Amino acid sequence: MASTESQSPYFVVLGAGVIGLSTALTIRDKFPASKILIVAKHFPGDYHVEYCSPWAGANWCSSANDNGLLESFDRVTFGRFQTISQDHPEAGIQSSALRMIYDQKIEDAGILSKGTEKVWYDDLAGGLVPVAGDELPQGAVFGLDIPSTFVINTQVYLQWLLAKCRTAEVQLVRQVVETVDQAFISPEVTAVFNCTGLGSYSLGGVNDKEMYPTRGQTVLVEQPIQPLKRMYFRSPRRVDKDTTYVFQRPLAGGIVLGGCRDDGNWDGKVNLDFAKDIMKRCCALAPELGKPEDLKVIKHGVGLRPNRKGGPRIEIEKRQTGFVVHNYGASGAGYQASW
Ligand SMILES: Cc1cc2nc3c(=O)[nH]c(=O)nc-3n(C[C@H](O)[C@H](O)[C@H](O)COP(=O)(O)OP(=O)(O)OC[C@H]3O[C@@H](n4cnc5c(N)ncnc54)[C@H](O)[C@@H]3O)c2cc1C
Ligand SMILES: *[C@@H]1O[C@H](CO)[C@@H](O)[C@H](O)[C@H]1NC(C)=O
Repeated sequence: MASTESQSPYFVVLGAGVIGLSTALTIRDKFPASKILIVAKHFPGDYHVEYCSPWAGANWCSSANDNGLLESFDRVTFGRFQTISQDHPEAGIQSSALRMIYDQKIEDAGILSKGTEKVWYDDLAGGLVPVAGDELPQGAVFGLDIPSTFVINTQVYLQWLLAKCRTAEVQLVRQVVETVDQAFISPEVTAVFNCTGLGSYSLGGVNDKEMYPTRGQTVLVEQPIQPLKRMYFRSPRRVDKDTTYVFQRPLAGGIVLGGCRDDGNWDGKVNLDFAKDIMKRCCALAPELGKPEDLKVIKHGVGLRPNRKGGPRIEIEKRQTGFVVHNYGASGAGYQASW
């Protein structure tokens, strides 16, 4: 006879990146009595090229313009970040202004939503303000100041999510899962949440041929005692190979300088010449940083964004062994779309 225990759902979350951890906490909210287990090769604290989350800047700057589901992910997460930054400053998320500079006309910059031809988060982020012509860096076409978005100290935030999971009695196991059926660790498992990012590639048996890496490189530099007034972003388009950004992170996170979005590049090694180029671009963008040769480098980083042709895969699959809920392919939006 089935015990009451076996009747409450049992969920396995595969992956402990920002997606897996947020997914586990969301399941806990919806199913307080369920059994939840996170199985992953890497957990917060690890730095490995197969594990994208610790390498992110990160900030909230929506790249969605579908006038639909993707925008709604970012909207929900914006609200959640508001609550977390107010109620839990120790989580590493802080409200911050952001200056966006574009090197193409607004119609070509990929920031206007389909159908509305507006920036969908204009009101949400406090009302966008055009950057005055004399404040635009050389070669820029236009700029917009976002008065109020979020910057995330990813080192701190991932640990905070993990601590929330422990408090919520989510079990944690470090294990490499080789096959789909192996994720159904017992017949009681109701559903497996697939939050493996690029995982399927590097761990063998690539089943989703639409997945590919979008390489990013960053430089972490020291921060001044007096914080910078804002974050900076510059690119021809919102999502483009060429991207320059300056994120000053809360709670001793330093300043993250980036970057690039290099599609199809698996190289996990730091390119030091390219790091110099990043520092030069960032100093031209954020005058408060001073001269590139004066920057104090703390460490270099390379991360591979889990990109996917056609966008993230978020759907339920019914298999013989049970349900698989896919949640991977967040690309460069894993934090801002996480909740
Ligand atoms: C330089 C850079 C800057 C970025 N900036 C931003 C930003 O400003 N804002 C933003 O929102 N996003 C940003 N991102 C993107 C963000 O980091 C990713 O979208 C996010 O980290 C993806 O998280 P994930 O949980 O899907 O994958 P991951 O963090 O890669 O986690 C995957 C997990 O699955 C596990 N796993 C995989 N396969 C297996 C297996 N077979 N068995 C067991 N475990 C397995 C891994 O060990 C790991 O725990 C940036 C990324 C980079 C590289
Ligand atoms: C998760 O998705 C990947 C594709 O990225 C696939 O290779 C893997 O088999 C899936 N895992 C499960 C448990 O369905």
